[in-house]
Amino acid sequence: MSDPVKTMKQEVGRAAAARVKSDSIVGLGSGSTAAYAIEYIGDRLAKGEIKNVVGVPTSFQSEVLAKQFNIPLVTLDAIDHIDVAIDGADEVDPDKNLIKGGGAAHTREKVVDSLAKEFIVVVDEGKLVDKLGSTFLLPVEVIPMAVAPVMRSLAKLGGKPELRMGVKKAGPVVTDQGNLVIDVKFDHIKNPAEMEKEINNLPGVLENGIFVGVADIIMVGKIVDGKPEIV
Ligand code: A5P
Repeated sequence: MSDPVKTMKQEVGRAAAARVKSDSIVGLGSGSTAAYAIEYIGDRLAKGEIKNVVGVPTSFQSEVLAKQFNIPLVTLDAIDHIDVAIDGADEVDPDKNLIKGGGAAHTREKVVDSLAKEFIVVVDEGKLVDKLGSTFLLPVEVIPMAVAPVMRSLAKLGGKPELRMGVKKAGPVVTDQGNLVIDVKFDHIKNPAEMEKEINNLPGVLENGIFVGVADIIMVGKIVDGKPEIV
């Protein structure tokens, strides 16, 4: 039996990739939904449906995938704009604010997604929430020597912080930048814009996973009457 969440991710990733035009620079997101978009962009390039597309990866994962699907890559010092970025999210609120970083890639994602003229978020319907922080812990990337004081400061802000540990690794998760991730439980984030700034102001924090005013389009994969639909 097919997995409905996987089907929704696949369909929405493909639908976003179908919007990529020839002669464009594309921000390549991280996570399982963005991975389908990367695969389909590669497919369209291979079939000659689109030409002269280059990608800017948001993580080691998206770089590896882009290479696997023969999407030429550029770095930010070689370009002066990004036409469109396609990336997943862990939570999306009605104002298009996001929590990202479930894959510990939110720092590079924020750089690339913010630079794009159009940022398309691709999610399955399970990611939609009324208030950020309802279902997902907020990821905060921290330089290793500052973990203890940052955890204390996050607790003072009303959060319950925990250091993210590896699943198939003894010890903590290490980001693409060589830092650590603290996941913080907040009982609803009342003011995402303020919270984003407040956390980023803590000495030793590199970036947190709240994205405010970055997303332009939210594409949602749903299953309606047993069939996938994009809204
Ligand atoms: C990576 O750090 C994240 O921001 C992902 O974009 C996010 O976790 C969504 O991932 P999935 O598409 O795998 O749910």
